[in-house]
Amino acid sequence: MLKNLQKKYIIKNMENKYYHIITYGCQMNIHESEKLAGMLKSLGYTETLNKEEADVIVFNTCCIRKGAEDRAMGNIGALKGLKKQKPNLIIAVCGCMTQQKGKAEELKKTFPFVNIIFGTHNLFKFKEYLLDYTKNKKKIINVVTDENLMPEEGEIYRTSPDGNAYVNIIYGCNNFCTYCIVPYVRGRERSRSSSEIITEVEGLINEGYKTITLLGQNVNSYGKDLVNEDINFAKLLIKLASLDGDFEIKFMTSHPKDLTSDVIDAIRDYKKLSKEIHLPVQSGSNKILTLMNRHYTVEHYLNIIEEIKQKIPNVRLSTDIIVGFPGETEEDFMDTYNLIKKVNYDSIFAYMYSPRSGTKAEKMENQVPQNIKHIRVNKILNLERELQKQKR
Ligand code: 5AD
Ligand code: SF4
Repeated sequence: MLKNLQKKYIIKNMENKYYHIITYGCQMNIHESEKLAGMLKSLGYTETLNKEEADVIVFNTCCIRKGAEDRAMGNIGALKGLKKQKPNLIIAVCGCMTQQKGKAEELKKTFPFVNIIFGTHNLFKFKEYLLDYTKNKKKIINVVTDENLMPEEGEIYRTSPDGNAYVNIIYGCNNFCTYCIVPYVRGRERSRSSSEIITEVEGLINEGYKTITLLGQNVNSYGKDLVNEDINFAKLLIKLASLDGDFEIKFMTSHPKDLTSDVIDAIRDYKKLSKEIHLPVQSGSNKILTLMNRHYTVEHYLNIIEEIKQKIPNVRLSTDIIVGFPGETEEDFMDTYNLIKKVNYDSIFAYMYSPRSGTKAEKMENQVPQNIKHIRVNKILNLERELQKQKR
């Protein structure tokens, strides 16, 4: 009997196929990897944390800064040896990096051992591609450019810790900040219907999730494209916060030009709406904000912060900062430094400006030398430490 059981176990184990996903970048990408994992699970694959053991390895890439791309390229290249040892290993590359113009062809040439390449718009078709490849063993390169495609929400294998679940509410971005590649690789804004979002959130609450994080490149634009629905971001927040259960709603990311008083009022009035607000200012200089195409002034930003602090006294504020944007002088940088001190953020994500191919800022004059960017980013990190020390 024991012998039979062992035999059965060994056979079952041999049939098991394993996947390994490597994710770069933001929460949106982490969540999309959960969707890729859901597709793999539905095909009978099991997750492994060990690349060597995997039958399928997926790179879900990012291209927001050059560093993210370089890391992905390096790690894909490093798989050449493993693929030689295991010719049946399937390697797939997807995400923002592959969606860039001409990138799929470049990847194909640089890494001939990669089997499947697809972009952000057709991520939800991965299952189809994988089945197709398994059957025909023919390389698949399919990066569609139809930016209006609405992803199908399939099975999701949630991995985010501490009872947190991510929920997409809007895809894409219409803003074209001059430094940013996101609108080029994620397409225009497409909101999910509120009924679909509410059904998903209700399901998550019933499953016991305690934090629901709503995701979008600019959540404040939610609903603007839903012409047949009487909905906007504030109304969606209120609907979700009115659901029964013990949970908290978080969201990211907000754009200062679109964060309206009705959203601030909702956060003040509804216990289930998190008192954390991430409001990226990017720069404290009006000259740089104009060059960045951010459509707000420092004065407008500080007015919103004032309103938030008055209405929500226990608010926790965070921001994103870019240092070394083209044309940023020492004076512009000090304006950013002083704005940070004034707002007294709870946390700051500071980045050195990284030129991205195809964006307006890449072609701007007065690019700032790398050593100056380093000095400035370190000054911001030290200031953040100082502010946190004072809060303790
Ligand atoms: N270089 C540096 N930082 C960037 N970000 C976006 N594009 C770039 C770039 N080209 C930062 C912004 C944004 C955050 C997600 O990444 O601060 O808010
Ligand atoms: Fe990029 Fe600006 Fe859109 Fe944010 S709002 S994703 S920074 S273009």
